[in-house]
Amino acid sequence: MTDNPNFSGPIGVFDSGIGGLTILDGIRRKMPQYDYIYLGDNARAPYGTRSFDIVYEFTLQAVQKLFSLGCPLVILGCNTASAKALRSIQQNYLPQNAPSRRVLGVIRPTAEIVGTLSQTKHIGVLATEGTIKSESYTLEIQKLYPGTVVVGQACPMWVPLVENGEFDKPGADYFVRNSLEALLAQDPLIDTIILGCTHYPLLLPKIEQYCPKGIRLIPQGRYIAESLQDYLRRHTEMDQRITRGATCQYFTTESRTKFRESAAVFLNEAVEVERITL
Ligand code: DGL
Repeated sequence: MTDNPNFSGPIGVFDSGIGGLTILDGIRRKMPQYDYIYLGDNARAPYGTRSFDIVYEFTLQAVQKLFSLGCPLVILGCNTASAKALRSIQQNYLPQNAPSRRVLGVIRPTAEIVGTLSQTKHIGVLATEGTIKSESYTLEIQKLYPGTVVVGQACPMWVPLVENGEFDKPGADYFVRNSLEALLAQDPLIDTIILGCTHYPLLLPKIEQYCPKGIRLIPQGRYIAESLQDYLRRHTEMDQRITRGATCQYFTTESRTKFRESAAVFLNEAVEVERITL
């Protein structure tokens, strides 16, 4: 793979599966002019329960694929990959292998915004087991806003509920209420909750139903989009390298039919998708 700093191409958005479409959707609403490539590693999802080493290995393969498809900039639209692989990719892989390209995650931009929104400075995080165990949100938020209390709750059933199309069915209520109660029992002063997993926006109506009034819920799509827009304003050399054809191509490692079905639920539109291997 060559790393010519003058080539241009689409923005790559990667997720372990389908959930990153909530991030892509937020970004495309704000910046429809750019070209995008979405890559979902659906065949190996979920990443949420996998070890650091495996998430790093899989995420790096996906980043390399997006680079080979021509993306100068890749967004890890997956909290688990951002928590477990981003730092190593930025610090160890890029400088030696692709110094002109950039890989950004979703945790730092979310941490930046959430600290400005909480009044009590008690913040809750709902995410996969991998993201919670990594303590990435706690570390990022406390680095930016010292003294803030951050409490996390893993919600192991939430991704399967979404993946299996049960997110709006009555069966989901139990699991949503259970995880929310477990989070709030840890710290009753929480006034802001990060939905720290790309799948969770689909559960938002149920989360709102069981979340006490006055607590602000933070789905990430809009904030990641604002942060990316700000990044491209500050890094004009990268902005100039993003092609502007308003297109979006989709790639999956699973079957095309499966991706198309799930994507229709997330995006409310039919998409064409190609199957690839990593
Ligand atoms: N997309 C992942 C995230 O945001 C959740 C799904 C998974 O576990 O792979 O953490």
